[in-house]
Amino acid sequence: MDNTFVFVIFGSTGDLATNKLIPAFYHLIQDSDFSTSFRIIAIGRREYSTEGYLSEIHGTIANKVRTFNDEIWRRLSESVKYLKMDLTDQQDYKLLEESLLECHNNIGTRNTIYYFATAPEFFPLISQNLVHYGLNKLETGYQRVVIEKPFGYDLATATYYNQTLNDAFSEESIFRIDHFLGKEMIQNIFYLRFTNIVFEKVWDHHCIKSVQIIVDEESGIENRGNYYDKSGALRDMVQNHLLQMLALVGMDSPDSLSEQNMVDKKLKVLDRIRISDEIVLGQYRGYTDERDILPGSSTETFVALKCFIENDRWNNTPFFLRTGKKLDSKATEIIIEFKDNEGYMSLGNIKNNVLVIKVQPEEGLYFRFNAKQPGVMNRIQTNALDYCQTCNIAYRSPEAYEKLLGEITKGDQTLFSSWRELEISWRIIDQIAIKKSSMTVHTYDKGSNGPAASDLMMRDNNTTWMKDVFI
Ligand code: BG6
Repeated sequence: MDNTFVFVIFGSTGDLATNKLIPAFYHLIQDSDFSTSFRIIAIGRREYSTEGYLSEIHGTIANKVRTFNDEIWRRLSESVKYLKMDLTDQQDYKLLEESLLECHNNIGTRNTIYYFATAPEFFPLISQNLVHYGLNKLETGYQRVVIEKPFGYDLATATYYNQTLNDAFSEESIFRIDHFLGKEMIQNIFYLRFTNIVFEKVWDHHCIKSVQIIVDEESGIENRGNYYDKSGALRDMVQNHLLQMLALVGMDSPDSLSEQNMVDKKLKVLDRIRISDEIVLGQYRGYTDERDILPGSSTETFVALKCFIENDRWNNTPFFLRTGKKLDSKATEIIIEFKDNEGYMSLGNIKNNVLVIKVQPEEGLYFRFNAKQPGVMNRIQTNALDYCQTCNIAYRSPEAYEKLLGEITKGDQTLFSSWRELEISWRIIDQIAIKKSSMTVHTYDKGSNGPAASDLMMRDNNTTWMKDVFI
């Protein structure tokens, strides 16, 4: 396989490039099994030399990477070239053409990956200009495009952006990032479910009482007020990360790990999701004092909702989704709560089985079960099997972006969202958005576990949020 490519970052001075992309390249060089040769063209509006750009981002990268090492930084720096461009000026794309030619000749390839780390409003313009200069399809090699969320604001805008991308690139060349799909334990949902008969055989409404998907964040909106105030938790998190997790938990077994097979199975789930009327929106106290937030903004920073997958497997099983900012801790967990083992409830003190897929910060699995308490009495005791992947110091999970960059170079789209998945998830969010205007946005304290209304919603469903359920 040809492992050489030129990586073009539109928006190279933004948070995404400096917090995620460049550190991912750094780790890939450090871990040395990324046997490839590449060049990065870092495009920005600001007037920098390449050295100026590198010294500007040096501090952030040093803070972001696991262990900073001057030699790795030197090797990374040698592959970077900064290019000042005004993305709205067609003439400037000529500069890109020249830089690309130089980099291509330098490493002997025409393989090119365009990474759109800009606001989505720029996507059509960049695509059109790449077409104008013929940079979307060169005579040899591959030319791929990677896009980040927010991919639109609703179904109509997402459809429009998608159309403009399709005008420039074929579907196999478009990689739509949902970085949660690159996380180790999210990939593991598939292996856990389908390689263990003990789970797969009970993975349905006969045995499962409810599923909770919790993505709590301790951090707030940081410097992203402009974006976040228009987006809110529904568009920022539910439309993509939470619905993707739901699809992976809910889907039927694919015949193979092939990308098409996986997508088809996920689509079947997404297509059958019904959001109930039980939706709680929240906003943390002090949100409207943050930078770039409109006075009196009612944007939600917290969402909790109940939904169903209307098919034979899940018949009436509630799925509870929750995500929010400025909560008491950062934790992403999928909690599968099994039904009571009714025949034996009379033995007393029996707790139902619970399986927790711990996505982050700790990665692992937790399974709660009942057993006999040691001793002469016939008493029941609740025990747990707890597997912590990240507790093994010899092992370090790759960051999601490292994994995803590798997949893009291989041309494998399994860990990316297809347009059809996005289309359905936007439809779901549009339906909720219609109801939003008549809904209360509850306030909650920073450092809490969200508005009281979210706990009440669970109480009305005879359950509680089971984050940190560990006995
Ligand atoms: C991003 C959202 O997609 O995911 C952010 O835009 C959120 O608001 C982030 O903070 C969470 O990702 P992670 O990997 O830090 O859990």
